[in-house]
Amino acid sequence: MASKTNKIGLILCSTRTPRSAPHLASFVHSLLPPSPSTPSYTVETIDLLDWPLPLHTTEPTVPTRLPAVSLPAAYTNATTRAWSAHIASFDAFIFLCPQYNWGYPAAIKNAIDYLFHEWTGKPALVVSYGGRGGGLGRDQLVQVLKGLRMRVVEDPTVGFAFQDGKDWGMQAKAEGGEDLGDLLGDQGFWAEQRVALVQAFNELLALLQNVG
Ligand SMILES: Cc1cc2nc3c(=O)[nH]c(=O)nc-3n(C[C@H](O)[C@H](O)[C@H](O)COP(=O)(O)O)c2cc1C
Repeated sequence: MASKTNKIGLILCSTRTPRSAPHLASFVHSLLPPSPSTPSYTVETIDLLDWPLPLHTTEPTVPTRLPAVSLPAAYTNATTRAWSAHIASFDAFIFLCPQYNWGYPAAIKNAIDYLFHEWTGKPALVVSYGGRGGGLGRDQLVQVLKGLRMRVVEDPTVGFAFQDGKDWGMQAKAEGGEDLGDLLGDQGFWAEQRVALVQAFNELLALLQNVG
């Protein structure tokens, strides 16, 4: 019997306008190895900008209190039901997350907190970015994902730094949402982090095979 194809969501955790997230998402996507036959996978972008989830939720019940079998119907708002069904359709996630003021963006926390069971037990990888790689935001997000009982890849860590002791103009471009240039074309650029990304992604695939 053919094994199923795993659907991996690549979540853009930035909702700023402008933003660098789409440029980095296509860079990360391009670096992922071809899908093996087992576990086979597809990667689909989840852009939080497409999901207008109000900061002031009117869902009356804390998501952890809702029986998993009652979802998504048990949510009162149509947007929450759609968000629930969408996240439930994925088998694993890559959170592509910038660092904002030593943490992660509020938009991803809000999007996470609308749900619970839809995340629980699924493999997750946080790929951070920022001036020095966004590690502080990544560590905080990892803690949140563990709280959701997600199975998080923690080794190796992956963080793309726009400046690391030197400033080559990347930070300003990222802040302005400008095209970051041909990142893929220069193989020397972020060489170690490219290797770390592939290793971490393979760990994510291993977690998918090892259904907890
Ligand atoms: C509100 C805010 C806070 C930021 N704080 C940090 C920070 O703590 N450390 C850092 O290295 N970069 C910081 N930056 C710079 C971001 O890493 C950079 O702007 C990046 O492009 C943000 O991702 P985005 O463009 O996809 O939103 C901050 C940017 C914003 C908008």
